[in-house]
Amino acid sequence: MVRPWMNVRIASKQLAADDIYLFGLETPDGDELPTFSAGSHIDVEVKPGLVRQYSLCNHPEERDRYEIAVLLDPDTRGGSAGIHESWAEGDTVRISEPRNHFALVGDAKKSILLAGGIGVTPILCMAERLAHADEPFEMHYCTRNQARTAFYDRIRNSPLSDRVNFYFDDAPEAERFDPSRVLASPEEGVHLYVCGPAGFIDWIYAAAEEHGWPAAQLHREYFAPPDDPDADAGDFAFDVKIASTGQTITIPADKSVAATLEEHGIEIAVSCEQGVCGTCITHILEGEPDHRDMILSDADTDQFTPCCSRARTRLLVLDL
Ligand code: FES
Repeated sequence: MVRPWMNVRIASKQLAADDIYLFGLETPDGDELPTFSAGSHIDVEVKPGLVRQYSLCNHPEERDRYEIAVLLDPDTRGGSAGIHESWAEGDTVRISEPRNHFALVGDAKKSILLAGGIGVTPILCMAERLAHADEPFEMHYCTRNQARTAFYDRIRNSPLSDRVNFYFDDAPEAERFDPSRVLASPEEGVHLYVCGPAGFIDWIYAAAEEHGWPAAQLHREYFAPPDDPDADAGDFAFDVKIASTGQTITIPADKSVAATLEEHGIEIAVSCEQGVCGTCITHILEGEPDHRDMILSDADTDQFTPCCSRARTRLLVLDL
């Protein structure tokens, strides 16, 4: 399957904090861009063959512009460094339409938004959306120090300012973020959204679970899967049947479904290949998936991510 790309022009490139550039993207002819909802991300083609995902951080009501903030990752595999070095105002780049696996729940009594570092991008978009709709929320934004806090002035000088709390790791202990203070009393209808590095998300989730938050009220978005050296221990081979043709293909224990199907001429669009972006989500007609991604849960019995997920049963029938 060919990925539907669109060309956009880099309308602005600004340093938003230490090691973080904010890019404004517009269509070359000034047309409106596809609509998006708070929490959405886009695929970005850094260069041919290298695709990365970035959350949209501007107000979802804005139709003429997407904004993404890109942190220079010290462990970069070429994505963020390529963007920082080579993207310039006026250049044309390719992006996908927005997708959302981190959407706000529609009828929440209140939303608690938690951002760790560059995880602020979808969280800020959510805050702007909730403020615009006059819905109750609070936002907590944790960074290493003020110099690494993207959007600090933008938030402080906006109507959001009285609902956003900043926390810096270099502040005195008493001023740093304490999840127990914010999460101590779960309430029905109150939803928690967290985005940031895997360690930050796991820390918040552990505190939420300790205080009895139901899983259905917790929402998270990872940028990358957590390190787990034992993640593929015990993997076994299984069969995948293509519903439309009846062809059955064995997936070896050490190869992904997407890669194996591609060897047999069946192409599934993939992007992150780490279970983060959702590009490859495919419907299952029979069999039980073993979700290894950061998007789907055991409740999602009829879809899976063939870039990284596997099967709990010896056969999966895919709606392909
Ligand atoms: Fe990103 Fe599968 S390609 S989740």
